[in-house]
Amino acid sequence: MYILGIESTCDETAAAIVQDGRTLISNVISTSVKEQALYGGVVPEIASRRHVEYISATVEKALADASMEMKDIDAVAVTFAPGLIGAVLVGVNFAKGLSYASGKPLVPVHHLRGHIAANYLTHPDLKPPFLCLVASGGHSHIVMVEDWCRYRVLGRTVDDAAGEAFDKVARTLGLPYPGGPSVSAAAKGGNPRAYHLPTPHVEGKYNVSFSGLKTAVINEVHNAEQRGETINVSDMAASFQERIAQILAKKLLAAAADTGAKVVCLAGGVAANGRLRQLVNDGVQKLGAKVYLPELKYCGDNGAMIAAQGYYEYLDGNIADLTLNGLPTLPI
Ligand code: KG4
Ligand code: ZN
Repeated sequence: MYILGIESTCDETAAAIVQDGRTLISNVISTSVKEQALYGGVVPEIASRRHVEYISATVEKALADASMEMKDIDAVAVTFAPGLIGAVLVGVNFAKGLSYASGKPLVPVHHLRGHIAANYLTHPDLKPPFLCLVASGGHSHIVMVEDWCRYRVLGRTVDDAAGEAFDKVARTLGLPYPGGPSVSAAAKGGNPRAYHLPTPHVEGKYNVSFSGLKTAVINEVHNAEQRGETINVSDMAASFQERIAQILAKKLLAAAADTGAKVVCLAGGVAANGRLRQLVNDGVQKLGAKVYLPELKYCGDNGAMIAAQGYYEYLDGNIADLTLNGLPTLPI
C-alpha cells in the first residue's frame, strides 16, 4: 500500500510517500524556518501563509520524486491535530481536496503518533509494545505504545515542552531559532558543569517540568549583567543541555525500569539531541532492554512519519469523511 502523507502543523510543509508504513519512496520538506528565525520563533500567520504557498508544489514533488501519480496512491494521510490551527487547516483542507478529486480514502493522523511512527521507517523490526519519549516544540510525553493505534501516557510536562525550553534558552543566550540545534552547537566545547542549574521537583513520577530550569538560566544571565559580567554562552549552553537531557533520560529510564519495557524509543524534534540520545542509549542498554532511535532526518516534522502512521491508522479503520476538521489540541 502506498500512502501519501501530508504534514503542516508548524513551520514545515511536508509531503512523502511511504510503502506499507515502512519503506520510504519519497520525502519532500519545504520550510519557512529561516523567515521564522528573523522573529525569534514561529509566527503562526506567516507559517499558515507559507503552507498555502508551498503545499501544492510540495505534494507534486513528492509524487514526481516517486514517479507516481495520484492513481498509484492508495490513501491520503494528513496531520489533523494538534498544532498551530491555521497551519493545520491548510494541510487538512488540501488533503480533503486531493481525496475528493482522486476518490482515495482520507486518513487523519495525530501529530505525536506520527513522530512515534518515524521509528518504523528506520527500524523494520520495531513493533508495539514499546516505551517512547516524544519530545517536540509543543509536547513532552512519556508514552507506552501498547499497539499501533493505542497509547497510554505515563508522564508529561506540567509546563513548557522540552523543545520550547531549548528555544527560550537559546533566545536568552542570543542564539538563533530553532534553539535545539543552536544550543547544541554552542554547547560543543563548553563545560557542562560550569553552571549549577536546578532539577525541578514535580508531582507525578514520570512528569517533567522545565519552566524553573529556563528561569534559572534567565536569572544567571541577568545577574551576570548586573555585575557587569557576561555569561559564557558555550558553558551555559552545555550546562543547560546536560541538565535537560539528564532530566528527560532519568524519567524515561525510570518508566522503562518500572514497566519492564523491553524496547525504548525516542521521537520528536528533541530526539535529535546528541546528549539525550547518548544518555538514553547507555541507560536503556544497562537495563538490558533494546533501544531504537529515529534517524536524525526523521526527528523533525516530516510527511514520511505521517504516511507511516497513516498506514496503521488505515488498517485500524480510521478513515475520515470530508467533514474532517483540524484541532489545535487533542490527546494522543
Ligand atoms: O518535532 P518538531 O520538529 O516540531 C514540533 O512538533 O514542535 O520539534 C521542534 C523542536 C524545537 O523546539 C527545536 O528547538 C527542537 O525540536 N530541536 C532540538 C534539536 N533539534 C530540534 N532540541 C534539542 N536538540 C536538538 N538537536
Ligand atoms: Zn512535530
